[in-house]
Amino acid sequence: MTATVTPWEVKGVVDYDTLITEFGVSKIDQTLLNRIKKLAGEVHPFLRRGIFFAHRDLNLVLDEYEKGNKFFLYTGRAPSGPVHIGHLVPWMFTKWLQDNFDVELYFQFPDEEKFLFKENLSWEESQMYLQENMLDVIAMGFDPKKTKFLIDTQHANLMYPEALKVAKRITFSTVKAVFGMTNETNIGSIFYTSMQAVPAFLPCVLKKKKMPCLIPHAIDQDPHFRVSRDVIPKLGYYKPASIQCKFLPPLTGVTGKMSSSEESTAIYTTDDAKTVKNKINKHAFSGGKPTVEEHRKKGGNPDIDVSYQWLLFFEEDDKKVKKIYEDYKSGKLLSGELKGMLIEKINGFLAEHQKRRKLAEKQVGKFML
Ligand code: TRP
Repeated sequence: MTATVTPWEVKGVVDYDTLITEFGVSKIDQTLLNRIKKLAGEVHPFLRRGIFFAHRDLNLVLDEYEKGNKFFLYTGRAPSGPVHIGHLVPWMFTKWLQDNFDVELYFQFPDEEKFLFKENLSWEESQMYLQENMLDVIAMGFDPKKTKFLIDTQHANLMYPEALKVAKRITFSTVKAVFGMTNETNIGSIFYTSMQAVPAFLPCVLKKKKMPCLIPHAIDQDPHFRVSRDVIPKLGYYKPASIQCKFLPPLTGVTGKMSSSEESTAIYTTDDAKTVKNKINKHAFSGGKPTVEEHRKKGGNPDIDVSYQWLLFFEEDDKKVKKIYEDYKSGKLLSGELKGMLIEKINGFLAEHQKRRKLAEKQVGKFML
């Protein structure tokens, strides 16, 4: 079965090498990793482990950086439901980029996007999730002095004129071809990609200065930027660069992506320790053998084991990860024990996140553009 990867749907077992060819992004190779290490002082585990695995024009952004022309970061979140730990992956990396390159971040909340695309999401719900989701973004620890939130409907006065300039240069046939839209698609959805293009150059408009942009995002968002990279240079700005990550697999198995609307596949940032424990014990797909005896003899398969896969995202210590891999493969480590390690890791992570999320309630104003 071939996988489906679009901004609105991810299905099947994703083969990331195939996606590189299909989408036309470039694989992050060792030369690029060395270059990042030289400039950032270190290499984030997501890069070492191939979780951030592809890019467009990252070298151009680094060339400018070396000349003293700093880039800005741009990423976003369309409110449509509670934030789960899969959403945090690109944000964790964005925070690292902000800290290590000392750059500004523009974070977009397109509060109209999911309202337009999801039949069952009301306007009121999307506004409620907007408030909730902002807390999770603040809880990532972004520097309020270097981070600006852009909310599409609240910053419409700044964004709409720029979106029009983009929209005028995109035809319906392009949108049909890239996003699979049809004559039955509502016209708000057809227009939407021009709003997602705006933050990739809005800071240049506001500061009246030409600055490169780097967009960290999950690979499913690439179609938007494929379109905007064609248009933005025509408006007189740098073509935005981007860097793409893989999906955190759903709890239930290494296929598709974690989904907020399917409880059993996701761990939300607000889940308490007991809920996390129950969900992992009950739903985490195991690569172990059916009996302890057989597992000890033949060993487990970490490549399809969700607990192991999640530790690749959440355990920073390479040595620990390697040992877990080997012990699980040899049968020394049992599925139950591996789940126990994951539960401890996730609960430790979430305890910290939830503390910062609580404090975030008073900080929203500081982040608004
Ligand atoms: N479309 C994204 C979502 O569905 C939100 C988003 C807006 C975004 N701008 C972005 C994501 C830039 C990554 C990078 O949540």
